[in-house]
Amino acid sequence: MSPSSSSSRKEIRDLCVKSLDEKMVGTTEKNIENGNGFYQYFFTNFPDLRVYFKGAEKYTGEDVKKSERFDKQGQRILLACHLLANVFDNEEVFKAYVRETINRHRIYKMDPALWMAFFTVFTGYLNSTGSLTDEQRAAWMSLGKEFNEESQLHLKNSNLPYVH
Ligand code: HEM
Repeated sequence: MSPSSSSSRKEIRDLCVKSLDEKMVGTTEKNIENGNGFYQYFFTNFPDLRVYFKGAEKYTGEDVKKSERFDKQGQRILLACHLLANVFDNEEVFKAYVRETINRHRIYKMDPALWMAFFTVFTGYLNSTGSLTDEQRAAWMSLGKEFNEESQLHLKNSNLPYVH
């Protein structure tokens, strides 16, 4: 079922954007922690995925917390998620940004199943700080479903491994 048949793209967009109110990007200590905190959650709860982060394969949440690399990377991932949410009601821009994201990750040779799994991780992070409603979680999973569909299509068209 396409998102437009249940909630409109604009409704999904607004729910996702709203869920990021408390996770703003920026330069204050709180802003930096919003991004770094994602990787603390990620590394603590999904340790098997640390393998993709060269040099940080053994990092604990505490190591991530102290890491300038993950302060910076935290802002990058958080900005990417803000962008996905904000442009969701512009379908072609959304899909082009998905393809760009896939292209940039080619070098990491990731398991293609991770493109859907990411949204379980990300909503888990938002939920872990008590700032996610059920409706917002559902909106992110709809966005994630489209993200994943475009990812797998793009991987297929690029002759790379994809999930059928
Ligand atoms: C579980 C899924 C994912 C894994 C395992 C993963 C892995 C990585 C790795 C290893 C890096 C390099 C960072 C470093 O080594 O310090 C990276 C960079 C990055 N990732 Fe991901 N990624 C995932 C999903 C995503 C998604 C869904 C997005 C977009 C919403 C994203 C956006 C970025 C951005 C913006 C960068 C910074 C570098 C660049 O722009 O090319 N990642 N990712």
